[in-house]
Formats: sequence, C-alpha cells, structure tokens
Amino acid sequence: MKNTTALLISLLLMAVAANASATQPNEVYNYYCAQCHGSDGKGNGPNVTKDFATDPRDFTKVEDMQKLSDEDIRNVILNGGVAVSKSSLMPAWSGTLSDEDVDGLVGVLRCISQSKTKL
Ligand code: HEC
Repeated sequence: MKNTTALLISLLLMAVAANASATQPNEVYNYYCAQCHGSDGKGNGPNVTKDFATDPRDFTKVEDMQKLSDEDIRNVILNGGVAVSKSSLMPAWSGTLSDEDVDGLVGVLRCISQSKTKL
C-alpha cells in the first residue's frame, strides 16, 4: 500500500515537471520580457523608470518591427543589445533561454506587432 502511494506521488511529480518544462511562449514573454517591454509589448513595463537611458522597443510599432528579420530578433534576444550596437539595457538571454523558447518569442513578438517577417 505504501509503495503504491509512493509510486502515485512520484508519477504526479513527473507529470508536474513535464508540464513545467513545456512552457508556453507567452508565459516566457510575461516572465522574462514584460517587465521591460510591457505585457502589451508597448515598452512600458514596470521595470522601466526615468533612469532608463533607452526605452525598450515598442513591439506594437509595425514599421519598426518590420525592419527586423526573424534572425535579427533571435540574435538580439540571445546576445543582447550590445551585440547589435544597441543599448546594454537589453540583456542577453542565451544562458537562460533555450532555442525553442527564443523561436517561440519571435512568434510572440510577430503576433504583438502583426508585422510580416522581413525576407
Ligand atoms: C531590463 C529591461 C529589458 C528586458 C528584461 C528585456 N528587454 Fe528587450 N530591450 C530593452 C531595451 C532598453 C531595448 C532597446 C535597445 C535599443 O534600442 O538600444 C530592447 C530592445 C529589444 C528588441 C529590439 C532590438 C532591435 O534591434 O531593435 C527586441 C527584439 C527585444 N528587446 C526583445 C526582448 C525579449 C524577447 C525579451 C525577453 C526575453 C526582452 N527583450 C527583455 C530592454 C529589455
């Protein structure tokens, strides 16, 4: 009886763990990006104060977002603002996010801005 309970508990824990690793792209966005870029993508998240020398990108500005290819977006997310000669206030996420997460985020940003992918 004890063993069955232990088995059930470990199965439950495995299910919880499996679920946690399959994080939805919008959850990744809300967790890591919304603090600066805002939950609606307008670049006015709670982290942004008057001391911010550069405003985080407003993802709802279609004409700005269209200038970036998917590869540009992937690059700045992984390597940070400095890697693309932009503000160091945009952190690098390569140590934090998986390739899958980053691909998901590209989709989230495209969805927010409704902009077409630059070819
Ligand atoms: C600490 C605040 C902060 C966080 C957190 C943050 N960003 Fe940024 N981000 C910025 C700032 C500031 C800029 C503007 C850089 C510039 O224009 O010089 C920026 C710019 C960008 C750009 C535009 C780059 C370009 O070439 O124009 C993209 C795309 C972007 N961020 C994506 C993300 C994503 C996705 C996340 C979450 C994984 C994220 N950012 C998290 C501050 C942040």
